[in-house]
Amino acid sequence: MSHTIVIFGASGDLTSRKLIPALYLLFKKKRLPEGTRIVGMSRTEFSHDAWRDELKKSTEKFTEKKFDADAWNDFAPNVYYHPGDLTELEDLKKLKKLLEEVEGGPAERVYYLSTAPRLYTAAIDQLGESGLANQEEGARRIVLEKPFGYDLGTAEKLNKDVNRVFPEKQVYRIDHYLGKETVQNLLVMRFANSIFEPLWNRNYIDHVQITVAEEVVVGRRGGYYDQAGVLRDMFQNHLLQLLMVTAMEAPVRFDADMVRDEKVKVLQAVRPMSADEIANETLRGQYAGYRKEEGVPKDSQTETFAALRLWVDNWRWNGVPFYLRSGKGMSCRTTQIVIQYNQPPHTLFDQKKSFIDACRLVMQIQPAEGIQLQIQTKVPDSGIMTRTSALDFRFCKEFQGEMPDAYQRLLLDAIQGDASLFARSDEVELAWGIIDPIIKTWRSDAAPTLHTYETGYWGPNESNDWMEEHGRQWFDVCPILH
Ligand code: BG6
Repeated sequence: MSHTIVIFGASGDLTSRKLIPALYLLFKKKRLPEGTRIVGMSRTEFSHDAWRDELKKSTEKFTEKKFDADAWNDFAPNVYYHPGDLTELEDLKKLKKLLEEVEGGPAERVYYLSTAPRLYTAAIDQLGESGLANQEEGARRIVLEKPFGYDLGTAEKLNKDVNRVFPEKQVYRIDHYLGKETVQNLLVMRFANSIFEPLWNRNYIDHVQITVAEEVVVGRRGGYYDQAGVLRDMFQNHLLQLLMVTAMEAPVRFDADMVRDEKVKVLQAVRPMSADEIANETLRGQYAGYRKEEGVPKDSQTETFAALRLWVDNWRWNGVPFYLRSGKGMSCRTTQIVIQYNQPPHTLFDQKKSFIDACRLVMQIQPAEGIQLQIQTKVPDSGIMTRTSALDFRFCKEFQGEMPDAYQRLLLDAIQGDASLFARSDEVELAWGIIDPIIKTWRSDAAPTLHTYETGYWGPNESNDWMEEHGRQWFDVCPILH
């Protein structure tokens, strides 16, 4: 059966920056099922050709050296445009007519909501009302971008609204972190090798650190960001996804529900934080200069940095703290998961001459994608001095070509009906259940101090003190780029 992708919010930034470049590159690599059509809809008036011309310019810009005019000329005739308002039934009925014309028979469709989230419910209702969600002529899937709600209550409502029209199996909630090759590689590393799993538990691991540091500041996104803050923007989704993939049990197969069942169990095991713990044991910061950003109130209390300690109360992880932190305006851009192993139980080497650092596995999600196993080695010709050295795996050395953008994988999976790398409704709600109480306390009189930090470092200084109080240290290392 042939395929159609309908992008709502087609004149927006995401479409030109990510979606069309990803679809074009998939086409160029011959990965897109043959004859796949792309139909854009938004309120701006364009003819098919005018939209194709716009997209050609933006795709050329965003795919840079990978752009090839001949491949674009083959791709462009499959791209169509329909001006209209997706919350207006009449406009959707006209879209339906266009789709039937270009498809000329049964076809599977992916509806991609790349619109403002406040339009989701109205749009979904109209998709139902207009018959566009009807599955008789082929599967109808819907792709939603985050945020999935603003808190637990709104997320539950959104899930109900979506599921009234699209059964859960047809709903694809994008968390682009799951589309990253290195996040998927975490599953491969854990479950396609037998040497890591025996050591992947409380008996050998002291703690886990998950860091998503961004060098960028909020820039022109101040209006959105100030309402969200780092917990909604990064923790509720990306950081908890990384936690789930790190801590989950092996699913029986790489099947959408089996994978997500295991991920959900991790969130179910996360110990709820008491109000007291939130007030005294969480860390929040705001970079100096944030209040001067466009769209940010002068007295904003919104966090641009946060650090949390979570416990996963299950058989595997009992007693192993997971430290999660993320911030903007940090020292460098790095996403890394650090498995810190226990100290050796006994030292036979002279402690004065060598400090034995415990083994550490660093999964470098981005950039300089790879995995490092840091171990102790003997310094040659030194008696018995030891030093930390790394067994270093780099994707760029091992494999040819660049890492594809997350959207390529996720779009292809949505087209092919594989939801393994998309967030399920229960996952989203459980994640809000963890984050919501923290946000509530942070917005109350019991909020911990909002520390100001200078950009270009690893967040507030208090973050180091906080880790030291826990008897640990952050792994503050910027990846070496090539
Ligand atoms: C988005 C957040 O979801 O993820 C942004 O809204 C953030 O604030 C971005 O910058 C980070 O994504 P990546 O892929 O650059 O790490």
